[in-house]
Amino acid sequence: MEILNVKNLSKKFGEGENEFFALNSISMKVNKGEFVAIVGKSGSGKSTLLNLLGGLDTPSFGNVIINNQNIYKMSDKELTVFRRKNIGIVFQFYNLVPALTVKENILLPALFDGKIVSDDKFNDLIKSLGIKGKEKFFPNDLSGGQQQRVALGRALINKPKILLADEPTGNLDSRSSNQIMRLLEMYNKKYNQTIIMVTHDMTLAQRASRIITMKDGKIIKDVKHQICKKK
Ligand SMILES: Nc1ncnc2c1ncn2[C@@H]1O[C@H](COP(=O)(O)OP(=O)(O)O)[C@@H](O)[C@H]1O
Ligand SMILES: [Mg+2]
Repeated sequence: MEILNVKNLSKKFGEGENEFFALNSISMKVNKGEFVAIVGKSGSGKSTLLNLLGGLDTPSFGNVIINNQNIYKMSDKELTVFRRKNIGIVFQFYNLVPALTVKENILLPALFDGKIVSDDKFNDLIKSLGIKGKEKFFPNDLSGGQQQRVALGRALINKPKILLADEPTGNLDSRSSNQIMRLLEMYNKKYNQTIIMVTHDMTLAQRASRIITMKDGKIIKDVKHQICKKK
């Protein structure tokens, strides 16, 4: 089942002589359950692409269709609601709210959506993230790896159609990186969670089911392979 369809997506910065395409007519499709790694040198347009997939920016040209809905044809208000329900986003620097506890940070998108999350559901999530017992801590009391688990929890609380992660391990040591990667793999296998992850760590990228390579705002390579899916 197709979950994402990107058509001729472009992002231009500057005007006239300074005109520059950070993304140059990108097209791609992603099916439910795929784990896509996006790689490429710094400045190749990876974050620009991810931000556009997440509805965080406006394209200069082209369309992003998620779950059969054209997100840039929506009003700002519709897009905000759609994003909260359908798209989970994780960044390199966690972007947690420092004044809120771990539990409050994770529940924030559900709260905005007027959704009640049962204690059982919350406990399952926090257990699967490996941060049970940290509910009342504040982000600053946690290690980077733990903060990223909280950010992952916040991204997953509304069961998004698609999880976007921009260098989610970029600020972590190799042990914490591996733990975050294992969590992503687990959600991908167990819940068939669709994931698109930007990374410049080729060892991590190799663990995805598909590797898309970008250069100068274009896709120059797109390779799929089987990952061993546990039943
Ligand atoms: N807001 C912006 N204004 C001007 N140029 C930008 C802006 N955002 C990104 N760029 C440029 O677009 C190119 C792609 O950036 P980015 O998507 O962040 O690359 P990556 O994530 O692959 O390192 C870079 O050359 C960057 O300098
Ligand atoms: Mg980037």
